[in-house]
Amino acid sequence: MPDGLTYREDYFADPQAWRALIDLIHDTFGIDVGQLDRLGGPDPTSRAFGYFDEAGRCVANFSLFSMPLIVDGQSVHAVGYQSGAVRPEWRGRGLYRDLMHRAFAAAKQGGCELELLLTDKPALYEAHGFRTVTEYDFRGPAPAADRTIPVGRSLDLNSADDLLLTQRLLQHRTPVSRRFAVLRQAEMFLLNPAFDPEIRLSYSAALDLIVAWQSGKSGLSILDLVAAEIPPLSQVLAVIGQTTDQITVCFPPDRLEWAGEPAERNAYAGLMVRGEIPLPRLLALSPMAGF
Ligand SMILES: CC(C)(COP(=O)(O)OP(=O)(O)OC[C@H]1O[C@@H](n2cnc3c(N)ncnc32)[C@H](O)[C@@H]1OP(=O)(O)O)[C@@H](O)C(=O)NCCC(=O)NCCS
Repeated sequence: MPDGLTYREDYFADPQAWRALIDLIHDTFGIDVGQLDRLGGPDPTSRAFGYFDEAGRCVANFSLFSMPLIVDGQSVHAVGYQSGAVRPEWRGRGLYRDLMHRAFAAAKQGGCELELLLTDKPALYEAHGFRTVTEYDFRGPAPAADRTIPVGRSLDLNSADDLLLTQRLLQHRTPVSRRFAVLRQAEMFLLNPAFDPEIRLSYSAALDLIVAWQSGKSGLSILDLVAAEIPPLSQVLAVIGQTTDQITVCFPPDRLEWAGEPAERNAYAGLMVRGEIPLPRLLALSPMAGF
């Protein structure tokens, strides 16, 4: 270990170390994961592996979190890796390799069946047996909105009531797809709208459903659905209250009573996986579960 550094594990509960990790992520990626503090805190399944300098700065980190999935109708014990960063002055000395090995060993010890990460540097992980998988969005003519369902209201996660409501639904959600979806994972759903102001959340009291969606230059996209029962797309469109000819669904639409044409997703960070579990060809992780 380089002089002056201390290795630490599982420091999410230590406020100073958590602050130091927030700073590392901010300085590396320009995002503020400290916003999790007002959204219920970091994922309790998260485990952090890192190095700290004598001033208490976190100079290197690699985290994992439990990410139970449904894959072709079966539940799969999966983990996601995130927050991989090393401060520039400490790069090229093997710190990241060391932290990856520690996290991979912990995941293996925990009996995980599938490991996932999102990266713009696939070569870094190919050396460790990860492979890139293509994600697909699904695009096609929009069905007519089911006008028996009233238009929903916008949710604002800065409102304590709306946050509570969203947390409640996330706890009891049905996976948005049987083919490939997260079973549980609340924190990224809550954090992603804080990073991307274009994400809209609409709540239908009639269906006790949250629709995550956005409307941009490529038209209307459905990002995710949170409910105990996933309704057909015609009802989802009624909740949003927008009319459109074409629609994009950013997860496998097998529960929506609708089929679109798959189109390869063009994302900055690609999905990589490692594990023996066979995966369906036309898969996508909802952008709301993106990490
Ligand atoms: C990528 C990063 C974490 C590497 O940290 P590091 O401590 O310099 O890495 P290490 O010295 O431990 O090198 C580990 C291995 O990764 C390789 N590597 C390092 N940077 C790489 C890159 N950008 N692309 C591909 N491979 C890379 C090294 O060659 C080394 O390979 P080896 O094990 O075969 O010798 C660091 O450069 C960083 O924080 N970058 C900005 C944030 C980022 O991109 N994080 C990854 C997000 S998925």
